[in-house]
Amino acid sequence: MVVSTALSSCVEHSLHFFRNVFRAIPIRHCSYISAFEGEVKSSGDLHLTNGRVQILHLNSSGLDERSYTGMASRTFLTAYKSKHADHIVQDINLWDKELLQYDLSHVASKMRMVSGQDEPSDKVNFEPVERMIKTLFSADKLVVSCPMWNYSIPYVLKQYIDCVVQPGLTFRETSTGPQGLLTNRPLLLITSSGGDYSTGQMKMLDYQVPYLKDIFGLIGFTDVRHIYIKNTAHEKRDKLLTFIESSCLEAAAKF
Ligand SMILES: Cc1cc2nc3c(=O)[nH]c(=O)nc-3n(C[C@H](O)[C@H](O)[C@H](O)COP(=O)(O)O)c2cc1C
Repeated sequence: MVVSTALSSCVEHSLHFFRNVFRAIPIRHCSYISAFEGEVKSSGDLHLTNGRVQILHLNSSGLDERSYTGMASRTFLTAYKSKHADHIVQDINLWDKELLQYDLSHVASKMRMVSGQDEPSDKVNFEPVERMIKTLFSADKLVVSCPMWNYSIPYVLKQYIDCVVQPGLTFRETSTGPQGLLTNRPLLLITSSGGDYSTGQMKMLDYQVPYLKDIFGLIGFTDVRHIYIKNTAHEKRDKLLTFIESSCLEAAAKF
């Protein structure tokens, strides 16, 4: 009797833990209609990797030395490394042409997999996608650097997102909302824009930061920090550089 009570309390405790860790989070409190009926089944354990990294940096900054988000990510990572010399930082340059080009063949394989009509060749075709997702799972913390492009994000970052946001692999559909699977990892967004989209009506034109928060939130990144280098077309360069230095040092101390 005592044993069964202890056992059921233990089961209840575990269920409570899993409910909290993997709870569904409605996006911006919207009622949620799922986009997929099924899921992509992974061919192995996505958590198993050849090694963990402490920070994965998704870099969609301009490669020019003068890129503000580029300067900010370098300042942030240097400050972070000075505090955590033993931590591994992996940089993914999203402009690298060798990266997976996510195309309609991947989409076709995905749709066959979610509807349970896939063939062995679909798994093979999807293998590079799973590899990208494994790299994401291998990271304890994520940094995304992203200039604003046409109110939104550069297409290389969008392509990365299209690649890794997969039902069954990085999130699950539930009746109450999407449930991200990349939990307990802080995310730092480093963004910039020529104008200032932080106040008033300009906020309505910002399809960059709200989108990044929503889409990374969907796959589990709910602890979001943000460094916003605004008004780069109009602000004095010295002032921007001072802001970059102080905000990056402060963010690195708490990351
Ligand atoms: C293709 C392109 C589109 C852009 N679109 C916008 C925009 O819609 N709104 C804006 O304020 N700035 C826009 N900009 C300006 C950049 O966001 C700004 O110069 C930013 O500081 C550049 O990023 P970086 O210095 O961090 O590399 C655009 C720049 C480029 C190259």
